[in-house]
Amino acid sequence: MKLKNCHNINSFKHLAKKKLPSPIFNYIDGAADDEVTYRRNTKSFDDVDLVPNVLRGVEDVDLTTTVFGKKINMPIYCAPTAVQRLFHFEGEKAVAKAASKFGTMFGVSSLSTVSVEEIEKISDAPKMFQFYFHKDRALNQDLLERAKNAHFDVLALTVDTITGGNRERDLRTGFTIPPKLTIESMIEFAIKPSWFFNHITSSPFELPHLQNYVKEGTNTVTSIGEYFSTMLDQNMSWKDAEELNSKWGGQFALKGVMSVEDAKKAVDIGCSAIIVSNHGGRQLDGSRAPFDQLKEIVDSVGDKIDVICEGGIKRGTHVLKALSLGAKACSGGRMYLYALAAAGQKGVEKALSIMKNEIERDMKLMGCKKISDLSRNNIIFRN
Ligand code: LAC
Repeated sequence: MKLKNCHNINSFKHLAKKKLPSPIFNYIDGAADDEVTYRRNTKSFDDVDLVPNVLRGVEDVDLTTTVFGKKINMPIYCAPTAVQRLFHFEGEKAVAKAASKFGTMFGVSSLSTVSVEEIEKISDAPKMFQFYFHKDRALNQDLLERAKNAHFDVLALTVDTITGGNRERDLRTGFTIPPKLTIESMIEFAIKPSWFFNHITSSPFELPHLQNYVKEGTNTVTSIGEYFSTMLDQNMSWKDAEELNSKWGGQFALKGVMSVEDAKKAVDIGCSAIIVSNHGGRQLDGSRAPFDQLKEIVDSVGDKIDVICEGGIKRGTHVLKALSLGAKACSGGRMYLYALAAAGQKGVEKALSIMKNEIERDMKLMGCKKISDLSRNNIIFRN
């Protein structure tokens, strides 16, 4: 299969699987325990139906929306995800350039393989910095200052990684950061020569935001679970989030809020947004899907802060369903990651263009000319 034959978001997955050594493909594609939540994230969209209206003159459709105080050209953006240079040697740069071309936002992880300073040089699109709250307070302060100095627009504090999720595929494949060469993995890397060649000929793997603070930044191998469980502060509290918000002093979101109770607390501590997310099903298996939880959360805080729906989004109609319930925008990780692995910047551009075309076509078929035309009137729950 070739990039030109990819006509939907799912098709990039097959291409990514062909290109990537199995530990890396399974790191992207895998989730926690039995992966029930991971599957439900996408399936949840099938439990509601769109009800279109007709005869509304829809030749010109406006897909822009305002989220985190920034206008973006389509109602979905690229969620921050870690270690992108393992997936494609262009890594975060490819995603930054592609998102900027489409005028949408993208996130850069605390665990990114390109620094916020480098990203600032190549993109003037709205940017989110994803923040992990470490035990090491000097590291936290440094992350905050670097994101601020690099003019990132949004700080998103991840709140659903208080300890490592049970990623059994990673245990099976022995996935580590950076990849460790064992006899078994060497075979895996050897049968994907183009990935291997690009990996060893591009600049050495590093985690530039961490390198002065923790051994993970200095090329020592670790697993993601170990990183979460040992480096992050398991006592992180509402008070810490509130303090971080006031130190940041700009658009601030909690990423990984799932309960109405927490959504209300997020309003109380002055967040500008919450990202309803279960970390792509990678943390607590058996937890509810973001889309299943969206209505209740929007009903309680949607008039006070932006609510973003993240998780399982593969189709334009998924985005339309979330927006109809009252989400301000959607975000996706795997939505562009398989495409990044498949073809770098070109791949991400193709994924974003597929999403954009689907959303535009679906808006027309729904009889909607602008995002605010979508409402609860055009969606019905099956039961
Ligand atoms: C993960 C983290 C790093 O889910 O976001 O692997």
